[in-house]
Amino acid sequence: MELRFTEEQQMMRNMVKDFAESEIAPFIDRMEAGEFPREILKKMGELGLMGITTPEQYGGSEMDFTSYILAINELSKVSAVVGVILSVHTSVGTNPILYFGNEAQKEKYVSRLATGEYLGAFCLTEPNSGSDAGSLKSRAVKEGDHYKINGSKVFITNGGEADVYIVFASTNPELGSRGISAFIVEKDTPGLIIGKDEHKMGLHGSRTVQLTFDNMLVPAENLLGNEGEGFKIAMANLDVGRIGIAAQALGIAEAALEAAAAYAKERVQFGKPIAAQQGIGFKLADMATAVEAAKLLVYRAADLRSKGLPCGKEASMAKLFASKTAVQVAIDAVQVFGGYGYTEDYPVERYFRDAKVTEIYEGTSEIQRIVIGKNLLK
Ligand code: CAA
Repeated sequence: MELRFTEEQQMMRNMVKDFAESEIAPFIDRMEAGEFPREILKKMGELGLMGITTPEQYGGSEMDFTSYILAINELSKVSAVVGVILSVHTSVGTNPILYFGNEAQKEKYVSRLATGEYLGAFCLTEPNSGSDAGSLKSRAVKEGDHYKINGSKVFITNGGEADVYIVFASTNPELGSRGISAFIVEKDTPGLIIGKDEHKMGLHGSRTVQLTFDNMLVPAENLLGNEGEGFKIAMANLDVGRIGIAAQALGIAEAALEAAAAYAKERVQFGKPIAAQQGIGFKLADMATAVEAAKLLVYRAADLRSKGLPCGKEASMAKLFASKTAVQVAIDAVQVFGGYGYTEDYPVERYFRDAKVTEIYEGTSEIQRIVIGKNLLK
């Protein structure tokens, strides 16, 4: 079996590759210095990349899921920052409204998210509720035609930059995860306080903030789905979102492999290129094999999703393996570069710093194993 993409998918891949190399690569230094890539996102909106899978009816490009994954994969080869911004914006920022929202909510929000006029964020994690997402403590109480929400969130990707936040809070704490509800919250909602901007090991340029809800008043019409459906909305969208993070990890691994292989062919020690020394040659062979395996898992999960088939187990497998591959291949790439790999003069130290979080966000590797294991027991 060979990976074969349709003509349309290949066009998407080529277009994104050209865009990433011509527009994003020159922006890397600014992102590394902490700048959020607003102007890049604006151009991506113009190219239809902020709503790749969103139906045309709501301003999207209405392409298949594999095209979306190809886009994240190609973007992440150049910038894992832009990769994660797009993945969060689409998979867990836009899709919860597209799949669980009513017509008015879709008209109002999805159409703006799809064009890039709005940026999306997803607010599930709390200081004391990370992997155990069902134990979250944010509380939503209905008062007349509003919900009053109190609580706090951490590690919110796109936070502070986003226009729309999908917020999870409990409307009935006695019911545990069955009491969690989802809300669409606009950025200028009274009581929404943007907190600390985390200083991260990698992904500089992507924004990760704390949020506080201080008697935040959300119109009742912004409840997403029904009360108590929030946890399922979160889980269903994370199922698919994880393929996006797997594609991001794959992009980092491919970039690290490419850089290491090119360097190993040029760098001469003991009278021949280091690629021809078995110690490095074997390392490159293992790196390439892992990347190929990750690619098959990522596109297998994407293909299932494109066909509308269940893909939760395959998405978790893809994320588990691709993130592990990204970390190992980035470590190996630094090793191939030797002392130069430890400097900022070469991109491999950035790949190394950016790779690690793919084993953590949208469910740690341990959580992926729980999901895979539960699916095996079904
Ligand atoms: N789809 C739909 N419903 C689901 C589901 C799924 N994939 N998984 C579980 N559910 C439902 C169950 O059917 C069950 O419903 P009932 O109560 O009606 O029977 C309910 O949810 C509870 O299920 P579990 O008992 O299996 O749930 P759990 O409490 O044991 O947790 C878990 C399961 C998989 C560990 C979950 O807590 C989890 O995924 N944790 C990780 C959280 C996570 O990924 N956070 C990422 C934050 S977002 C992020 O990182 C974005 C970013 O910035 C990049």
